Amino acid sequence: MNNFIFENGTKVFFGKGCVKEFLAGNLNRYGNNVMLAYGGSSIKNNGVYDEIKQILENEGKNVVEFSGIMSNPTYAKVMEGAALAKDNKIDLILGVGGGSVMDCCKAVSLAAAYDGDIWEDFWEKNGVVYFDPIPLGVVVTVTGTGSECNGGAVITNEEKKVKTGRDYPKCNPKFALMDPEYTFSVPKRQTASGGFDILSHIMETYFSEPDEDNISDDISEALMRSVIRNLPKALEDPKDYTARSNLMWAATMAENRLIKLGKACDFQAHQIEHQLGAYTNCNHGCGLAVIHPVYYRYIYKNGLKKFVRFARNVWDVKSDGMTDEETALAGIEALAGFIKEIGLPSTLRELGMTDKVSLPEIAESCNIAPGSYGNMTKEAILEILDECF
Ligand code: NZQ
Ligand code: ZN
Repeated sequence: MNNFIFENGTKVFFGKGCVKEFLAGNLNRYGNNVMLAYGGSSIKNNGVYDEIKQILENEGKNVVEFSGIMSNPTYAKVMEGAALAKDNKIDLILGVGGGSVMDCCKAVSLAAAYDGDIWEDFWEKNGVVYFDPIPLGVVVTVTGTGSECNGGAVITNEEKKVKTGRDYPKCNPKFALMDPEYTFSVPKRQTASGGFDILSHIMETYFSEPDEDNISDDISEALMRSVIRNLPKALEDPKDYTARSNLMWAATMAENRLIKLGKACDFQAHQIEHQLGAYTNCNHGCGLAVIHPVYYRYIYKNGLKKFVRFARNVWDVKSDGMTDEETALAGIEALAGFIKEIGLPSTLRELGMTDKVSLPEIAESCNIAPGSYGNMTKEAILEILDECF
């Protein structure tokens, strides 16, 4: 195993009723000015907004609302939130939503406490956060990114056509409230794409060095099997509490840094999806669903043993009489079959792309992930994107 340092600054409150039980106690560790941040209308339609507003009111908080955070949050939206937070001397940001809301809030928490240009200093390159961002607490309403338990924030700079993520431990939410019932109202497509995002985070970690016996890979296999079992159940019955809670915690486990300990991590599929998102604004999990099988067919020979292990241990491929290559490919085909089964797209055309014109620019602007089994180049990424089309 490689050396590592482990820290996670987020306190998690998980389960049915946790917002009612624990939000007030958490609020009262901070000052009176609270910024309530959320996306569109989902939290108003499912009653979450009313529940939280009532608690804020009961605690006598001065509430400033920051709404309309879009999927794939933009740098412009971050700056809007930062101005609002500064003007109102906000003591605590309370983000209610999914990855987009949580990520935007993390960037706002930095921008509102910093005088320079946060894009230039913290997203264009890795910066050093030597100051304290405004404290952030989150209420998770959709499962997938695991943003609730890390310092990661993926922001799209529309002007520069770049979507990029950075992980600053100081941006970890101070607390995360996770009630699986809050996710009952998530539509099928988002449930599937969020679920696939979880699987993708685990695979991107699993398919990387070191491949010697290590705990991270064992946990990853258990998590992948859990997602593969529970996602179809949540799609079949959106109010299946067991399935929703397993997915919710798997998402956190995948991205709270635990399974990444001692691993190089790949995340090349994420790098490709981020630039695809910057050019097309596609849904994150849907973009990943298109890219993964194609990317894995491209690199599997470089990590053959691990792909064989994936086929046998995660997909139960019976490999008697099969060569290692056949077994590895059977595992990748099982993954591709699962993507179809949960109703996600398999091609860029299904994702809404009508021509290949922007593919060279997307490939060219893509970061190369050093942890990949493959020797990735911009040319290789273009070939993968071409195949995805
Ligand atoms: O905006 P509203 O009306 O709330 O609707 C949202 C949105 O349309 C809806 N939704 C949320 N909770 C709901 C609900 N609908 C019904 N009932 C509820 N309870 O779901 C839609 C998608 O929300 P969004 O937050 O955009 O989805 P997700 O959680 O997948 O976040 C995606 C963003 O996170 C980034 C992605 O790149 C993308 O920008 N990522 C962040 C990561 C991180 N910070 O660690 C890692 C990931 O790899 C990812 O890159
Ligand atoms: Zn992701």
